[in-house]
Amino acid sequence: MEKIILDCDPGHDDAIAILLAAGNPNIDLLGITTVSGNHNVENTTRNALSVCTAYGIKVPVAKGSPGPLLIDQVLAIEIHGETGLDGPELPPASFELDKRHAVDFIIDTVMAHEPKTVTLVPVGPYTNIALAVRKEPRIVSRVKRVVAMGGSYTRGNITPAAEFNIYGDPEAADVVFRSKWDVTMVGLDLTHQALATTALQDRVRAVGGPIAKFILDIWEFIATTHGGLLQIEYPAVHDACCVAAMIDPTVFTTEKADIRVELAGRWTKGMTVCNFEKMGGMHHFGGTASEQLDFRHSVAMKLDHAKFCDLIVDALERLAKG
Ligand code: BDR
Ligand code: CA
Repeated sequence: MEKIILDCDPGHDDAIAILLAAGNPNIDLLGITTVSGNHNVENTTRNALSVCTAYGIKVPVAKGSPGPLLIDQVLAIEIHGETGLDGPELPPASFELDKRHAVDFIIDTVMAHEPKTVTLVPVGPYTNIALAVRKEPRIVSRVKRVVAMGGSYTRGNITPAAEFNIYGDPEAADVVFRSKWDVTMVGLDLTHQALATTALQDRVRAVGGPIAKFILDIWEFIATTHGGLLQIEYPAVHDACCVAAMIDPTVFTTEKADIRVELAGRWTKGMTVCNFEKMGGMHHFGGTASEQLDFRHSVAMKLDHAKFCDLIVDALERLAKG
């Protein structure tokens, strides 16, 4: 059983990540923390609570940072709509938020569990995670690892170079990648393989009931925004890929890399620069001795789409049965 904290900004694919985590018996979802990203933190928190209410998910939900560390807020309204989760209908939240700020929830939870048992799964901008590292640096050696949606080693989606979660708070991402823990970067190169194909949509339709309608409504809405802006054939189910890897590590392959976040580039801010170990690595990044290569992190490479679909459908079937 893998213990995780899901730090998210629901968000259509974030909502699917929540359902996958709640619907799989091998995941112990310790809590959900929210952050501003796809929409402001009021909306992402409301959406998280509503998804939990709709599908009987009883875990603590803690509200987090209302904005990035340094830059002005960047929202993804053109992808996720005016509510952050346009399209499907959701009930109002029927339970209370955890009293703690997300940052304190993360720190308390990690420190309360045995060392190396809790994995952080950030799937929005990494603001809460960076703040938690700064407030309680001991979490870095305490967590098992970090499995994060964000970045890309090829192209971006909000600029040619940058992916949204990194671009939304590049300084926070820099803290996360510089910290001495193991990060698996689940970037666009991987998540653009995690497409809600017609075959997957048919399998979800066969599950039936309100949960199937919810997921199909999500994909129907996202198809209009993704299709226009990103030119991909089907909706990408980005954030659920991180949870899928926690359930079954063979759902994608990884390669070791040294990952840096571009903070200063005029055209490349928020880019994740990946120096792959298997390619021999460059000697250094052109900097000082403190910038020696460190291949501690991993980059997600090749998705097993069939396994991924099986995990999604299995979780929905379990949740549909109640
Ligand atoms: C990421 O950005 C958000 O819009 C999605 O929820 C995902 O986390 C993809 O770039
Ligand atoms: Ca997200």
